[in-house]
Amino acid sequence: MASLNDIRSTFLNYFARQGHAVVDSSPLVPRNDPTLMFTNSGMVQFKNVFTGLEHRDYNRATTSQKCVRAGGKHNDLDNVGYTARHHTFFEMLGNFSFGDYFKSDAIPFAWELLTRDFDIPKDRLLVTVYHTDDEAAEIWKKVAGLPDDRIIRIPTDDNFWRMGPTGPCGPCTEIFFDHGPSIWGGPPGSPEEDGDRFIEIWNLVFMQNEQHEDGSLTDLPRQSIDTGMGLERIGALLQGKHDNYDTDLMRALIEASAHATSSDPDGPGKTHHRVIADHLRATSFLIADGVMPSNDGRGYVLRRIMRRAMRHAHMLGAQDPVMYRLVPALVAQMGGHYQELRDAQALITETLRAEETRFRQTLDRGLKLLDAELETLPEGAELPGAAAFKLYDTYGFPLDLTQDALRERGRAVDAAGFDAAMAEQKARARASWSGSGEAADATIWFDLADRFGASEFLGYDMESAEGQVLALVADGAEVASAKGEVQIIVNQTPFYAESGGQVGDTGLIRSATGLAEVTDTRRTAGVVIHIAKVIEGEISKGQPVKLEVAHQRRSAIRANHSATHLLHEALRRALGDHVAQKGSLNAPDRLRFDFSHGAGLSAQELAQVEAEVNAFIRQNTAVETRIMTPDEARALGAQALFGEKYGEEVRVVSMGQLPGSQKGPDGATYSLELCGGTHVARTGDIGAFVCLGDSASSAGVRRIEALTGQAALDHLRAQEARLSGLATLLKAPAQDVPERVRALMEERRALANEIAQLKRQVAMGGGGSEDAPQDVAGIKLIARVMTGVTGKDLPPLIDAMKEKLGSGAVVLIADTGAKPAVAAGVTPDLTARISAVDLVRAAVEALGGKGGGGRPDMAQGGGADIAGAEAALQAVTRTIEGVKA
Ligand code: ALA
Repeated sequence: MASLNDIRSTFLNYFARQGHAVVDSSPLVPRNDPTLMFTNSGMVQFKNVFTGLEHRDYNRATTSQKCVRAGGKHNDLDNVGYTARHHTFFEMLGNFSFGDYFKSDAIPFAWELLTRDFDIPKDRLLVTVYHTDDEAAEIWKKVAGLPDDRIIRIPTDDNFWRMGPTGPCGPCTEIFFDHGPSIWGGPPGSPEEDGDRFIEIWNLVFMQNEQHEDGSLTDLPRQSIDTGMGLERIGALLQGKHDNYDTDLMRALIEASAHATSSDPDGPGKTHHRVIADHLRATSFLIADGVMPSNDGRGYVLRRIMRRAMRHAHMLGAQDPVMYRLVPALVAQMGGHYQELRDAQALITETLRAEETRFRQTLDRGLKLLDAELETLPEGAELPGAAAFKLYDTYGFPLDLTQDALRERGRAVDAAGFDAAMAEQKARARASWSGSGEAADATIWFDLADRFGASEFLGYDMESAEGQVLALVADGAEVASAKGEVQIIVNQTPFYAESGGQVGDTGLIRSATGLAEVTDTRRTAGVVIHIAKVIEGEISKGQPVKLEVAHQRRSAIRANHSATHLLHEALRRALGDHVAQKGSLNAPDRLRFDFSHGAGLSAQELAQVEAEVNAFIRQNTAVETRIMTPDEARALGAQALFGEKYGEEVRVVSMGQLPGSQKGPDGATYSLELCGGTHVARTGDIGAFVCLGDSASSAGVRRIEALTGQAALDHLRAQEARLSGLATLLKAPAQDVPERVRALMEERRALANEIAQLKRQVAMGGGGSEDAPQDVAGIKLIARVMTGVTGKDLPPLIDAMKEKLGSGAVVLIADTGAKPAVAAGVTPDLTARISAVDLVRAAVEALGGKGGGGRPDMAQGGGADIAGAEAALQAVTRTIEGVKA
């Protein structure tokens, strides 16, 4: 019997032989579609190739595409487990032609593969065509020899395939398998078509039109082919089963579930095993593609699927978490074809275990509450919305989980009442927020949040994505379209809104009619606000837009943010556990980290920290992100901001592996931090780390500024250029520069001493006439104006002259070029008669200054104008003359 893995290979190999490129499945989160929650068919990744916007280097392709249909327009969640063919996750096999072959090749390919390679009896097959598509009907007749009654013309949209309200589309032909009269049902188009006898297995779409927003339908530039065949369906058929869950792959998962819960795979818990098997696939592939459980958007759909499966495990009587134990079985089945499943195995396991552990804490109590509520209600009555809301709010029961639980009891929920209770809670949250004193103009963001919910952030995995403009705000009011400055709100965005020290992203937003430059991104009330300026054309509400984050800037920010985590840990290890983050900035050009620590860091400590960060950069290990509750994160020892308010869920970012025997809080993980920011994929992406130094930020808080990547190298290069400039000036090799500078400084100091000495000698003269003391009233006086000296030089000169005089007075005026300085000295034998202070004051006054002071033997002062120098010397003479002998 061919396994599902064999069947997948047979399909891909068949089309490879027909010249098709075998292309990998695209991720479940669509990169190129603003309206799709999850990739739901094979053509999603080729949408822009069909419309001619994008070109690939092949024009035939074949894929096995991962698809999820839950939470969006195609929502199969409610039926999964209860029916034979509903899945949340499935694989769609497809072949595609981009303007290459069309109907006359697509039909024979399909027919040959089904009837020759898959060996399906021809008389069990029949087809539908769009009622006006004579050409397709003719080809079927010719190629397959099908009689007219097995080429059924369908006049409805069932045979005109559209991916959504807009986009490529076209008439299609569907191939059905007839399970025979023993099963109830009629052929397509008949009143009994919903029966299980005739099962659609393959849809071939003749892509030839494009549906536009205004309702018009135009021709595509090239006629193309898009086909889709569910692997699980064709697998069931080829394995002679009527139920997709009886195929080898699904059966292996069901048996794993039965084993893990010690129950019978086909017993009363059969449905539970089917739910678990399906949901295990959906959750594991979603996690592998970067979706994490959360309370809105894609993350919430994931959570709903996970919790639905967990309730079914609980109903099987499982006492402990089950889902994570099934991951090895899934990887064994599907990891061969899907590398991403193998790569993410640890993350999937841990995310499932954490979610199930947590959910089990409230599941029991929630179910008891549900039963108690039901007892109070009349037979068959709906569960009131308020009760469903309490289950949601207090016990973490998504609405569809409550609905699923009630389904077995034959009851429904008052969904409108649930919505009303939810709206009321939001209104209360809003009222308490508006009382918190934030700017009043933020009301508009709360209105938008109420209308559209929180914006979904895609930027952990992508830097460019498509989104849809939900609102445009200019000057505090909503506008329908905008030129110039505007704030743009979209449903999903790769732009990071400033928070946790990481600056907001910049980049471009492009629509069919305009281009806007985003200069900053902020977030209020969960709404991501792109602060932008429309620089070409205009942008309108409702338009699909391409959002592109400025790549280099974001890469630099990421490197700085990840380096901040390593720095934090390196500081804690170097200085002690008291080191806690007090603030940070992760900008494109640098990082800044403030932390509690009393003293400045020594050069040695800084060097040690820098070296340790660089060692973990070179280690180049993967940076991992997990989701858990704040308490779980703290229990693991994650670094968190004390006093910071965290939500119900936190991201925990870990980086670096401790070598050998050393153990960190979470096994061998080096750095473990609560963080909502964006990070490098591997530590090596940081490139390099250079500390610029440490300074005081405030009392007890130090600040380190540092650079990473190119900026770090640029800094080192600039330092190097400065050094070689110095070496050139010094005419010495760079390594001799410090020695040479030390020698120069030595020399300078020696020269300065020599100059000071020479000045003194010059000032005291060689015994020439101008230095001879005058005799004033019997007292020897030296009174002079000096140049080339400053006020500071005067006292030692005066002391030297006093010594030389033996007995007398000295008054020196320094002509400094600016304000003159004066100093006077009197030998001790004369201080009883003359005071140096009086002499200085007399001179200062004549020099246009005021005051002057000191002791009787030595005084100093300052004048205003050297023009008074002659008068000052005379004033000194007069002062001495006035002194009585
Ligand atoms: N895109 C087509 C489908 O999903 C083949 O059915």
